[in-house]
Amino acid sequence: MSNALDDLKRAEHRDWNARGPAWAKWAEPLAKLAERMNMPLVEAAALQPGLRVLDLASGAGEPALQIARAVGPSGQVVATDLADAMLEGAQRRAAAEGLAQMKTQVADMEALPFADAAFDRVTCRFGIMFAPDTAKALAEARRVLKPGGRAAYLVWGALEANSMFRAIDAAAREVLEGSLLDRPTHPFRFADGSLARHLADAGMEILEDRTVAYSPEIEAGQPFWRPQVEMMLADRLSTLDKGARAAFEAKVEANFAPYLRGGKYHLGAETRLVVGRRP
Ligand SMILES: C[S@@+](CC[C@H](N)C(=O)[O-])C[C@H]1O[C@@H](n2cnc3c(N)ncnc32)[C@H](O)[C@@H]1O
Repeated sequence: MSNALDDLKRAEHRDWNARGPAWAKWAEPLAKLAERMNMPLVEAAALQPGLRVLDLASGAGEPALQIARAVGPSGQVVATDLADAMLEGAQRRAAAEGLAQMKTQVADMEALPFADAAFDRVTCRFGIMFAPDTAKALAEARRVLKPGGRAAYLVWGALEANSMFRAIDAAAREVLEGSLLDRPTHPFRFADGSLARHLADAGMEILEDRTVAYSPEIEAGQPFWRPQVEMMLADRLSTLDKGARAAFEAKVEANFAPYLRGGKYHLGAETRLVVGRRP
């Protein structure tokens, strides 16, 4: 691995470990919303009881928990992540629900610690963009899939189409002098539609490549943006004093003002679903 890619991987590992407690804290309050966002991915994975599924970059358990329910006690889900602190929420939630078919394991999606053809499905929600070497990560997904098995990825669409991130990123640029897009491994890396080409280059047959849009409406009067702020920026916020943090939050709140109509925030969100099959 080149030094630049190595440095990126180290930075991702460090920052996601710092964000782990925030993800564990907010996973349950956000579970219903997460399940709605998971639906296109879970449906595209064509799950059945008894399947063995590898979920990459599982974080605090999305969509691994939902998949574990779908494959049932005769199936298995291995929920993996580069950062062990991110998996703590996943582990706790699976135990609380008694999902014995789900286990967690630290794993870098660019170097998976699993045998060839070990899984029926590979899934990944909002994770593939953070692996510095995309070709390596997709080749690994193909390798661990059985012939005929599917890999399904959900990634973010453009920053401009995602009002939550747009408002938070504008505040980060103004107050923190940083951006969610500072690194090449940023959340919107595959908004350009290039993931399907990468997946085809890895030797997968493309089954789906489409945009999924949402129009969430949120009641005014609550800091609905706080979970996302803490989850995306926990590492940077921990360096701020009280005053600077308050200034940042005031800026975030102000950036949502244009979306407020009739007592509700009218937001937009856009994701991209890319599904491939190993021939
Ligand atoms: C935005 S979170 C998504 C978590 C979860 N899938 C969800 O949608 O809620 C991105 C996750 O990717 C993980 N990640 C980053 N680089 C990775 C890599 N090379 N291999 C596996 N996971 C990685 C991070 O640790 C983090 O948990």
